[in-house]
Amino acid sequence: MLDTLALVSSDPLCSFDLSRTAQDTLARVVQTFATGEECLKALSYHEQGDACVVLVDSALSDLSPLNLVDALRREHPQIACILLADDPSSDLVSRAMLAGARATLPPAATGSELSDLLRRLAPVAQAEGNGAHRGTPEDKIHQGPIVVVSSARGGCGKSTVSALFALVAGQADLDVALVDFDLQFGDLGFLFDVAPEHTLADLAETLSSPGKSCRGFSVAVAEGVSLYAPSPVPEQAEVIAGRSRMLLTALSGEHELVVVNTGAFHALSQLELLDRADRALCLLDQTLVGARATLRMRDLCTRSGIPSARFSYVVERAHRSNGYHPSLDEIAGLLGQSALRFLDDGGLRTAQALDRGGFDEVLGGGRSALAAQVALLLEDIALSTGLSLNSLPHMRSTLRRESKGRFLR
Ligand SMILES: Nc1ncnc2c1ncn2[C@@H]1O[C@H](COP(=O)(O)OP(=O)(O)OP(=O)(O)O)[C@@H](O)[C@H]1O
Ligand SMILES: [Mg+2]
Repeated sequence: MLDTLALVSSDPLCSFDLSRTAQDTLARVVQTFATGEECLKALSYHEQGDACVVLVDSALSDLSPLNLVDALRREHPQIACILLADDPSSDLVSRAMLAGARATLPPAATGSELSDLLRRLAPVAQAEGNGAHRGTPEDKIHQGPIVVVSSARGGCGKSTVSALFALVAGQADLDVALVDFDLQFGDLGFLFDVAPEHTLADLAETLSSPGKSCRGFSVAVAEGVSLYAPSPVPEQAEVIAGRSRMLLTALSGEHELVVVNTGAFHALSQLELLDRADRALCLLDQTLVGARATLRMRDLCTRSGIPSARFSYVVERAHRSNGYHPSLDEIAGLLGQSALRFLDDGGLRTAQALDRGGFDEVLGGGRSALAAQVALLLEDIALSTGLSLNSLPHMRSTLRRESKGRFLR
């Protein structure tokens, strides 16, 4: 049961009447506020306990709901916000999610829908409230963006792109955590030819005590790139189920950028990672089936309260010439995107080089087209997250050439 459940709504007809249904069943304390200011004031004076959820109605007479969500996230990071909104795919919802809302709920939702959602959010609220990794004040200042590399279908190039992306970011002088969250069949250790001494499961265990650092649990695989790998024993994957959020938060507190490789699309584990991501690279192959699967994954995310504004779509192993595949323009149209990124199919030689971990060979000292295409992905992420890229100087000319044809319109 939650400690505190609060509703903020200036609409006298708001269909949620928490006081009758929720007290003693969903939360120990139930509060209703008519304005955003009233809510902020009350929460700063009273102790809400460790597990607290605030329902923010989109009808507020004083603040915009986005500002309230943002203020709650800044002033009370342990509180989980739910936005009450009719249309889960609306722009307002996307922006509320970016501002820090955890989920959405239609205002006409039933008591049992609310309690299902609270059950889903409770472990998050509890973990953050208990300070599983509450973070030091420095952590709060230094939070590297988390980029999750995902795909709706297997074999789309997640391991390859996560590795190349992390390497290019390392070359741009960033301190990068490359995290292999393909918990059962992670291959990054194999590709970099390292056998990390400590696993993500060990790290999760260590972080359950406060004040512990992540650093000793990685192995350096390139300049500026630390690899965090899962246990080679697939059954151990379950040890960190439900703890990915806490792990990613801790890693982003210690690195300038966190790049997460994911496994095949298993809804629960991927949703948990995507939920915590600042940005997600959604890879797809150049097929109609791939585009359709990507759309379905996006719908599932939207229904789970993860905003599609967080996603960038990347066609992997792309062919720019005509052939037996939809054109990149068609794929962009199907996804409803005006701009799409892509990585060229490097053919058999590139695949062979990648499979033996020959990343440097493929990046060609930053001068290959593939390196420039990966650098463009990094630039996009930097622009949207405020990450500062000091140097990609060795790539500038290739980047310029590549970026002339960068967007498909
Ligand atoms: N741009 C490219 N050009 C040529 N080959 C590529 C390219 N990108 C990836 N490959 C090859 O495609 C294959 C699949 O890539 P990868 O293993 O990265 O996919 P994945 O999404 O991680 O797969 P899984 O879902 O099994 O984890 C590999 O053999 C890889 O070397
Ligand atoms: Mg993989």
